[in-house]
Amino acid sequence: MPPESEQRLVIRRPDDWHVHLRDGEMLAAVVGHTARQFGRAIVMPNLKSPVTTIRQAQSYRDRILSALPENTGFEPLLTAYLTDTISAAEIAAGYGDGVFAACKLYPARATTNADHGVTSIALIKDVLETLQRIDMPLLIHGEVTSPQVDVFDREAVFIETVLQPLRQDFPELRIVLEHITTKDAVDFVLAEGANLAATITPHHLEINRNAMFEGGLRPHMYCLPTAKREQHRLALRAAATSGNPKFFLGTDSAPHSIAAKESDCGCAGIFNAPFALEAYAKVFAEENALEKLQGFASEYGPAFYRLPINDTKVVLEKQPIEVPESLQAGAELLRPFHAGASLPWRFAGAA
Ligand code: DOR
Ligand code: ZN
Repeated sequence: MPPESEQRLVIRRPDDWHVHLRDGEMLAAVVGHTARQFGRAIVMPNLKSPVTTIRQAQSYRDRILSALPENTGFEPLLTAYLTDTISAAEIAAGYGDGVFAACKLYPARATTNADHGVTSIALIKDVLETLQRIDMPLLIHGEVTSPQVDVFDREAVFIETVLQPLRQDFPELRIVLEHITTKDAVDFVLAEGANLAATITPHHLEINRNAMFEGGLRPHMYCLPTAKREQHRLALRAAATSGNPKFFLGTDSAPHSIAAKESDCGCAGIFNAPFALEAYAKVFAEENALEKLQGFASEYGPAFYRLPINDTKVVLEKQPIEVPESLQAGAELLRPFHAGASLPWRFAGAA
């Protein structure tokens, strides 16, 4: 029998620094999964009608809190969705009041509900100046949208043509490059100062682009940015498990019904919230880096956002757990990441 330290891992309660909780029936179905494992979460604002005002954020926060199971202690951190015309004053007021924790930049049409996103950085210079001045974090979906650019190159081209100039123009701006998928992104984040960090999802640590085509089209492995070549997955695993505080946990859990995924034009997004910690623990165990999980999951995110780390702890046990094929979400079904598989470490609740 291996020693207990190899069977059980106790870490500070983690936070999810990037999640899609949706609204209505879907919100009610998914929020409990995130709240079960995480103390806080940065909640994405890309609702069908995006969250662009203080009032909308307050109302969304109330809907999230009402949809929560009892006594989770979970705290949603709301974000403002940047548009070409959003008011810098509204954002600054929302940050000052603690309603907004950050702003989210979606290049227009880059992904789900990004139609109202920013068409040109030049149009939001005043907003970026304000963010830099008030030290409010900017969270970036880092992909160009031009149809001329190959889907698999869109992150690397964004870094070169949009992010690099933006860093030069706003060197003091605190930025999180969200859900990075390439070695290019890892290298860029490493080369820049401490005010640029990145989140990494469990799926980008686990799959490469072959997963979307394994024996046929696999819509449940499709998300944006898409998974890339194996060399990129390996770079992400090295970054996540390195103990470098520039890389921290953000699941990008993005539920879409099975019907919406398995369609002629399937939605982008992988729903990993129900077994998120299990998915990360599997990767860290495979990399012999379980001792680095607490930093990645529970410490580096709060440090970047300048928030305290959670004062409670959670337990992971080396006990296999079976991931169901599907989960009910109101009248719809969801297919979780790792559906039908067994994961070696299980979340065992509060310590
Ligand atoms: O795959 C994704 N799904 N990527 C995103 O950026 C958005 C998300 C969603 O909201 O479904
Ligand atoms: Zn996302």
